[in-house]
Amino acid sequence: MPVIEVKDLSYTYCPGAPYEKKALDGVTLSVKRGEFMGIVGANGSGKSTLIQHFNGLLCPDGGKVIICGQDTSVKQRRDELWKKVGLVFQYPEQQLFEATVFEDVSYGPRNLGLGPREIRIRTEDALKKVGLEPESIADLPPICLSGGLRRRVAIAGVLAMQPEVLVLDEPTAGLDPLGRDMILNLIKKLQQEDRTTIVMVSHSLRELLTLADRIAVLENGKLVATGSPKEVLHQKDFLALPGIIMPDYLQLIHALAGRGKKVNTGISAMAEAELEIDRLLKEICGK
Ligand SMILES: Nc1ncnc2c1ncn2[C@@H]1O[C@H](COP(=O)(O)OP(=O)(O)OP(=O)(O)O)[C@@H](O)[C@H]1O
Ligand SMILES: [Mg+2]
Repeated sequence: MPVIEVKDLSYTYCPGAPYEKKALDGVTLSVKRGEFMGIVGANGSGKSTLIQHFNGLLCPDGGKVIICGQDTSVKQRRDELWKKVGLVFQYPEQQLFEATVFEDVSYGPRNLGLGPREIRIRTEDALKKVGLEPESIADLPPICLSGGLRRRVAIAGVLAMQPEVLVLDEPTAGLDPLGRDMILNLIKKLQQEDRTTIVMVSHSLRELLTLADRIAVLENGKLVATGSPKEVLHQKDFLALPGIIMPDYLQLIHALAGRGKKVNTGISAMAEAELEIDRLLKEICGK
């Protein structure tokens, strides 16, 4: 059974107002337990609106959203969703508000009504998962930390809830390459070792091609492609889609094909591009 089922979902902001906006239009999508689903699309395509339906923050105007078998339009069920689905907003560090890192990360477990020992274990485990040492950081005020460290603390706060499904809205936005790799490795590890179901929104097709099992592409509130990285690259001409950057290695492969070189344009991973270019070089050099 899929852990997330979205059926013909539509959502309009400010209905009836002159500035009403249909942000989602007939989206149908499912995510299997343990799967890594990537969501990509230009600014304003509806990515954040879609994922806010996954923990009941938004409720469908049309269609259905079923999470872990529960219809989110039923209020009592929706109230329980925050325990199962962890949502990491874009720039989550802006929502740190407690006096110390420990208090911030333990906020969720405290609200679950757990005992002090369990709260401490969960908080320290979550900090370790994001690569932070509890003993050196737990008592610091979050405001003293760099933006990258605060991002990790904010993610630890969601992990401390031990969610079955982790939904992240552009978790690497604004990070340097080291910070970005750290977060991406952490997310992949959560999927592989903890069997957490992952939904990740990103503008970087490259990140999703490397990490995701399947990718959904949104355009003006509509789902325009979905499938494995190779399938979506086949279904959609990303070179013609404004707002999504094709990875440079794929741009190179397509440019070579455009010049009449015999290269396989059906690849998705950088390692495959390296092999293609290596083969082409050997052909040119006659080896
Ligand atoms: N609270 C709101 N009130 C009114 N309109 C909104 C609201 N939030 C989003 N919208 C509109 O809904 C559409 C989809 O917005 P959404 O934030 O879901 O897109 P997005 O794909 O996440 O964009 P981005 O890449 O910029 O984060 C946009 O046209 C946006 O202006
Ligand atoms: Mg967004």
